[in-house]
Amino acid sequence: MADINYTDKIPNNVNLSEDRTLQRALEHWQPNYLEWWNDMGPNGSGQHDVYLRTATSTAPDGWANFGHVKMPDYRWGIFLAQAQEQRKVGFGDEKGRDVWQEVPGEHRANLRRIIVTQGDTEPASVEQQRHLGTTAPSQYDLRNLFQINVEEGRHLWAMVYLLQKHFGRDGREEAEALLERRSGDADNPRILGAFNEETPDWLAFYMFTYFTDRDGKFQLAALAESAFDPLSRTTRFMLTEEAHHMFVGESGVSRVIVRTCEVMKATGIEDPAELRKHGVIDLPTLQRYLNFHYSVTIDLFGADQSSNAAIFYSSGLKGRYEESKRDDDHILKGGSYKILEAKDGALVEKEVPMLNALNEVLRDDYIRDSGAGVGRWQRVIDKAGINFKLSVPHKAFNRHIGSFANIRVSPAGQVLSEAEWAVNVDQWLATESDRAYVASLMGRVVETGKYANWIAPPPIGINKQAADFEYVRFN
Ligand SMILES: [Fe+2]
Ligand SMILES: [Fe+2]
Repeated sequence: MADINYTDKIPNNVNLSEDRTLQRALEHWQPNYLEWWNDMGPNGSGQHDVYLRTATSTAPDGWANFGHVKMPDYRWGIFLAQAQEQRKVGFGDEKGRDVWQEVPGEHRANLRRIIVTQGDTEPASVEQQRHLGTTAPSQYDLRNLFQINVEEGRHLWAMVYLLQKHFGRDGREEAEALLERRSGDADNPRILGAFNEETPDWLAFYMFTYFTDRDGKFQLAALAESAFDPLSRTTRFMLTEEAHHMFVGESGVSRVIVRTCEVMKATGIEDPAELRKHGVIDLPTLQRYLNFHYSVTIDLFGADQSSNAAIFYSSGLKGRYEESKRDDDHILKGGSYKILEAKDGALVEKEVPMLNALNEVLRDDYIRDSGAGVGRWQRVIDKAGINFKLSVPHKAFNRHIGSFANIRVSPAGQVLSEAEWAVNVDQWLATESDRAYVASLMGRVVETGKYANWIAPPPIGINKQAADFEYVRFN
């Protein structure tokens, strides 16, 4: 890589061509990244020409350049959102002071941990999704999968840039370790639970991109408030890409519902078992998938009471969602927040210090935001005149982190005995047979403009392309 033109090969706005130290670090890391992509990226896709969006600058016309690209040739770039003049720390003990361009020694370990934890989720999701290409319901969907995969790859670059630029030798070691952990690996797994789950089928993929990429949105939004300005700027740019991932999830689930309702109307069938004979995904199964992905995702926000969360906030490392839009003192000492805990077989509110409850605050913001899309899915069902209510489970349902980890709670929020849970769990979480049924629908549809039977076509193409546009050339 010694004589490459950095601006061409690695689009960036971090002055890479002048930064020898960073070049040397990237020269070492980039071949390992490509090896990881070839081993763990989308299966058997190296020769496809894929209609992808590539960011070449952060200007409004620069971040969405569309064209057919082979994914190993995708130009993974390094972008920071535009610097804000005179930006000040917006919260915590240093509120009002200048933001930091370098990492303060006393916050180094915590910042590195935050960046590594975020960075780890990016390649993890690529690994989780690597087999989906072989069962894509259309070229359109295949292209969207690949778009998400290359952008999660770029998000890894974004975090690796911070590690290599600002954390010296241990940053470089962490950057290598990000390529070594593997989703679901028994010996060297990814850091967070939801990123070690499988994404075995396309319904799971849409649920993942709706719910779990939305966790990404909230984490990135909280980091965009950071006093460490390079972290703030890189996460602000990542957020522009994240929106498409959630769109793929929301519209994907919506198209599944459209198709199911269509068949329900045409046949007059409501019974799930009968409906399955028509090759569509019954709504109770969709609800069980939703329950699973939602509950696994809200675990990602961490324990409901956390002294780390308090430290991260007070020291200016990680803010709240939309910090600047809140009208409080942005220091939060002495404040309190109501969390839930189980007491004598019921869930009761308990007031705890606000600073310690910031994971819960972010989780509650997420819960409000993710419910909106579920409401839009419901409207599709209502509009079709089908009598079925989708719902978001109670936040204590199926939790493995925090104070609900050791209790059983129904989707409606009722505390249960182990026996009551065992009798009902198959109605609440996708079963082996649900997953086997959904898997049985997953045939590969590759003809231009064609869609699998279980999903409706999208109302509009990517970048407004026509319905018969060739999104992927298989070569
Ligand atoms: Fe991401
Ligand atoms: Fe994402």
